[in-house]
Amino acid sequence: MKHIISPLDLSVDELSNLLDLAADIEKNPDKYKEACKGKKIATLFYEPSTRTRLSFEAAMLNLGGSVLGFSSAASSSASKGESVADTIRVVSCYADICAMRHPKEGAPLVASEHSGIPIINAGDGGHQHPTQTLTDLMTIRSLKGRLENLTIGLCGDLKFGRTVHSLINALSRYSNIKFVLISPNELRLPSYICEEVLDEKHIEYEEVSKLEDAIPKLDILYMTRVQKERFFNEEDYIRLKDSYILDSEKLANAKEDMYILHPLPRVNEISVEIDNDSRAAYFKQVQYGVYVRMALILTLLDIHVD
Ligand code: NCD
Repeated sequence: MKHIISPLDLSVDELSNLLDLAADIEKNPDKYKEACKGKKIATLFYEPSTRTRLSFEAAMLNLGGSVLGFSSAASSSASKGESVADTIRVVSCYADICAMRHPKEGAPLVASEHSGIPIINAGDGGHQHPTQTLTDLMTIRSLKGRLENLTIGLCGDLKFGRTVHSLINALSRYSNIKFVLISPNELRLPSYICEEVLDEKHIEYEEVSKLEDAIPKLDILYMTRVQKERFFNEEDYIRLKDSYILDSEKLANAKEDMYILHPLPRVNEISVEIDNDSRAAYFKQVQYGVYVRMALILTLLDIHVD
């Protein structure tokens, strides 16, 4: 039984097969509409979510399966003091696969150690978010036709942004990837990721604080929200929240084929005036998120469709 706790739980080959499957699902959705008939996914969300939970549920429904779960810790027995380990033992009796989001780093890993069904980490604190990364990779591969030879700008809250951490881990396995890390000093990428991933793998990167300076050289600009819920004091959040606002003036200096991604939700960091620019890919990205989650469910349940 396989769990997806980190994006590195899939090898580069497995990832490539998964993205091929997701692309086939995009082209031939009808072929897959009964593939998970009789199967159930449990979505256990101890933290707020719109896209991730609903896209897992939409993915399972598109495959002919059903869904059960909860969308806040307050409506689950966690509020009575039940441990994640006990909850997952119980949920293993009700469902075939589980997507879990939790504010504590490592909670889905703990769940996987006590689970009778595959666990997918749907975001654990400021740590990892592997299925957002699958979504991002599918978006990049579909729009640019490759995952190699790219200069990727990651902008915003690189400290607490789990989508950024997972994406760096995943992309660091492809050749000739360069990162431009754009953040205020206080929200720089954690040093353990610089050292254990970027330095370790000899990946070229630079840390800058001005988006304007970085934009012209980028193939992908990955914008992120400042993660309000992970701040210890509100003053710091208020001071940093509008550090970057991408608007048409800044975008004027970007390459014609530089795509803009964002895991969403957006707060202020992308002006709505660029939503209709052909380079704005963040809503397309949401659609890809359903296809990759369908592909992931099929892969983890070992279901093959001819
Ligand atoms: C992200 C998350 O939850 O980490 N959202 C998502 O799943 N698409 C990004 C965020 O909340 O800023």
